[in-house]
Amino acid sequence: MTFVSHPQGKTLYGRRKGPSLSPRQQALMDTKAPLYQISLDEDFQSLSLKGDSLTTWIDPEKELWLEIGFGGGEHLIHLAHAYPDRQFIGCEPFFNGIAKLVCALSEQKINNIAFFADDARLLLNALPQHSVSGAFLLYPDPWPKKRHWKRRFVQRATLDLLARILKDKGGFYCATDKPDLGLWILRHCLDHEAFVWTAKNNQDWDVPWDGWLSTRYEQKALREGRKPIYLQFQKRA
Ligand SMILES: C[S@@+](CC[C@H](N)C(=O)[O-])C[C@H]1O[C@@H](n2cnc3c(N)ncnc32)[C@H](O)[C@@H]1O
Repeated sequence: MTFVSHPQGKTLYGRRKGPSLSPRQQALMDTKAPLYQISLDEDFQSLSLKGDSLTTWIDPEKELWLEIGFGGGEHLIHLAHAYPDRQFIGCEPFFNGIAKLVCALSEQKINNIAFFADDARLLLNALPQHSVSGAFLLYPDPWPKKRHWKRRFVQRATLDLLARILKDKGGFYCATDKPDLGLWILRHCLDHEAFVWTAKNNQDWDVPWDGWLSTRYEQKALREGRKPIYLQFQKRA
């Protein structure tokens, strides 16, 4: 599996590799991953899937949704089954998470998911304008130390990229178990002219949106006594 380098240098701080894959997982990665993996050309603009432009896979009659940092892919796979008439792109640079997704895709014969195995900002930069109906950012890395806040995924520049690809009234759905990160996301989105917080009475951050499936990280947070925060935004029309 190849990874691309960002034109502005290193922007990805999380880990890419964990323990070695089992022989079965490795075999599936070798044979099946290319069927689902989106590639980015050296121009950092052209996306392709199975040798064709990604635009041939994107069906203009269907909604296209994104999940940024899908971990092991459980939530993404749930979405693909729950909404068979939508298309999904998952983005995750962690190789072992990608391997889990690829195993599930091939075992469950899912054909409405494609994945990008790198920094989501590269993908956001290259997707067509106004092509995405909604994006999930679930339990992003919190980077609690102040000197690492610039590594947090939600930044003004990332919201600019997201605003460009979202359709008018497209959704941005975030969850975290870290109150200070929740406030960071809320403040950045409230400060951005493209986004509106769609919470009822501006205070129901403890209530998930309809159809929510708890993720692996949320289960860990709940076991350890931390309370989830759900933040839902809409791109202004
Ligand atoms: C704390 S985990 C949460 C995983 C999953 N969403 C869940 O709730 O179980 C954060 C994930 O975001 C991924 N990630 C970190 N930076 C990313 C980036 N720039 N683009 C895409 N994914 C990223 C990490 O590899 C990791 O899998």
